[in-house]
Amino acid sequence: MEIDAIREVALRAAKEAGAILRQGLEQRPTIEFKGVKNLVTNIDRRSEEAIADLVRRKLPHHGVVCEEGTRLDGNSGYRWLVDPLDGTTNYAHGYPCFSVSIGVEKDGELVFGLVYDPNLEELFIAERGGGAFLNGKRLQVSAIGTMPDALLATGFPNDVAGATQNNLDYFVRFMKRAQGVRRPGSAALDLCYVAAGRFDGFWELKLYPWDMAAGSLMVSEAGGRVTDLRGGPHHLSNPQIVASNGLLHDEMLRVLAMES
Ligand code: IPD
Ligand code: CA
Ligand code: CA
Repeated sequence: MEIDAIREVALRAAKEAGAILRQGLEQRPTIEFKGVKNLVTNIDRRSEEAIADLVRRKLPHHGVVCEEGTRLDGNSGYRWLVDPLDGTTNYAHGYPCFSVSIGVEKDGELVFGLVYDPNLEELFIAERGGGAFLNGKRLQVSAIGTMPDALLATGFPNDVAGATQNNLDYFVRFMKRAQGVRRPGSAALDLCYVAAGRFDGFWELKLYPWDMAAGSLMVSEAGGRVTDLRGGPHHLSNPQIVASNGLLHDEMLRVLAMES
């Protein structure tokens, strides 16, 4: 079955990419700037090449879209959305919080997600209708239903200094209401941590499909809820996302909708 082939190729690709990321960290990556706070390293590109190359060889009929520009056409309705290194700023500083993120859509619907943290050797996998797993153990979102008991996560866009929509106002609101708010620096992992019940909710305003594809499927398959900022269905083309254990979701939406 196609899903078995996808799982096998994605797993191998993530392990190869993870090894590249670990090795690259020892040799100090070369850093370039795509924008003021928008970093890319030679290792982002090497990781991307390894993943795209494997998909090209093993599943040549699948389309591929990677963050650093690799595009492969396919004719099967399958499309891979790949972030070869989610958490580049952390990576460039040697801060060990980053991941490889691989989501696969069939005719526009997410069917598979994998996020790999090569530092903790944590492998998150989700399949539509089949649940979400961390190193083979089934995941379930948390049962925390009140904001003062909740640990949330978020992230900030690269244009945080200049843009009006920079998430700082929402961050302040949640800091005042929740038990804590973290900004780990890898959106793909943040979403997986919601799936694993380590975070109770997550929101971010300016993400790309490759940041969210795998992680959003992880959250829904672990019993959580994923929407846009107003509570409507979330589409990967929408950069704004709210993901939670479900119980906390309406309260998060209320806080986001408040007048400043
Ligand atoms: C970034 C990370 C970060 C998020 C940023 C993303 P990158 O991805 O996911 O957590 O806050 O919005 O751009 O650039 O490290 O792949
Ligand atoms: Ca990313
Ligand atoms: Ca990236």
